[in-house]
Amino acid sequence: MSNLVGKKSIVFGGTSGIGLEIAKLLQAAGSDVVTVSRRGSLGENNQGMICETADVLDRDALETLFEKHVGFDYLVNAATGGTRAVGPFLEMDMDGFQASFAKLWGYTNTVRLGAPKMAKEGAIVLISGSPARKWRPGMLAIGTVGNAVEGFIKLAANEVAPIRINGVCPGLIDTPMFAHEGKARQAYFDQSTKDNLIPRVGKPEEVAQAAIFLLDNQFVTGSIVDVDGGVIAS
Ligand SMILES: NC(=O)c1ccc[n+]([C@@H]2O[C@H](COP(=O)([O-])OP(=O)(O)OC[C@H]3O[C@@H](n4cnc5c(N)ncnc54)[C@H](OP(=O)(O)O)[C@@H]3O)[C@@H](O)[C@H]2O)c1
Repeated sequence: MSNLVGKKSIVFGGTSGIGLEIAKLLQAAGSDVVTVSRRGSLGENNQGMICETADVLDRDALETLFEKHVGFDYLVNAATGGTRAVGPFLEMDMDGFQASFAKLWGYTNTVRLGAPKMAKEGAIVLISGSPARKWRPGMLAIGTVGNAVEGFIKLAANEVAPIRINGVCPGLIDTPMFAHEGKARQAYFDQSTKDNLIPRVGKPEEVAQAAIFLLDNQFVTGSIVDVDGGVIAS
C-alpha cells in the first residue's frame, strides 16, 4: 500500500502547473492536501484541498502556516517564487539575475521552517530544471538557480535526516508559466524541443509522477530524478 494514504501533504505552488498536478496525484493517492500560493485557489482544480494564501518569501507567514499544520508528513515546493531573468549573461541586468534567486530563497525558507514541524518519517520534494546541468541560450540565470537548488538538496539531506529530501528536474513542460497562446505557444514548444531525444514538450503530470515516487519510496534521499525528454543526456 502507498505510504501516502491518510497522510497530510503541503504543496507550495499547488494551484498551477507542476505543483497542481502533484497536489492532484497526492489527493488521488489518499493524502490530505494543503496548497499554498499567493493568490489562493485558482478554481475547481483544487476541489477537496485546503488552499492557503501565503508568499514563500514571507517567513512570518510560513511560520504561522507550519504551526497550523504541525505534524504534517510531506512538503513539496514547486513555487516559481518570483521573476526569471532570460537572455545572454554578458548583457544581463544583474538585479534581474539576482532576483531569479527568489525561487531558491522560497525553497530554502520552506525547508528551514517546515522540516522542524514535520513528522520524522516525512519527505520533501523540490523542483529544479534541466538548465541546471545543460547549457541553453539565455538560460544561465535559471540554470545557476537550478544548480543551487540541486546542490542544496544533496547537502541538506544530511541535516534534515531522518526526513528525506529529493528533487525532480523537469525539461520544458507545458504549464501556465508560459504566456504564449494558440499557434505561437505550440511553435515555441516545437522549436524549443526539436533537438531533444524525445522531441516534444513535457506534461505536468509526467513530472508529478516522479515527485510521487520520491515521496512514497522510503529508500531515496539526496537524489534528483530527471524528467526532461532526454535534454541532459543529449
Ligand atoms: N514549466 C517548465 O517548463 C519548467 C521547467 C523546469 C522547471 N520548472 C520549475 O517547476 C516549478 C513549477 O513551475 P510551473 O511551470 O508549474 O509554474 P506555474 O504554472 O507558473 O505555477 C507556479 C505556482 O507557484 C506559485 N507561486 C509563485 N510564486 C510564489 C510565491 N512567491 N509564493 C507562493 N507561491 C508562489 C503560483 O501561484 P501564485 O502566483 O498565486 O502565487 C503557482 O501556484 C518552478 O520552480 C519552475 O521553475 C518549470
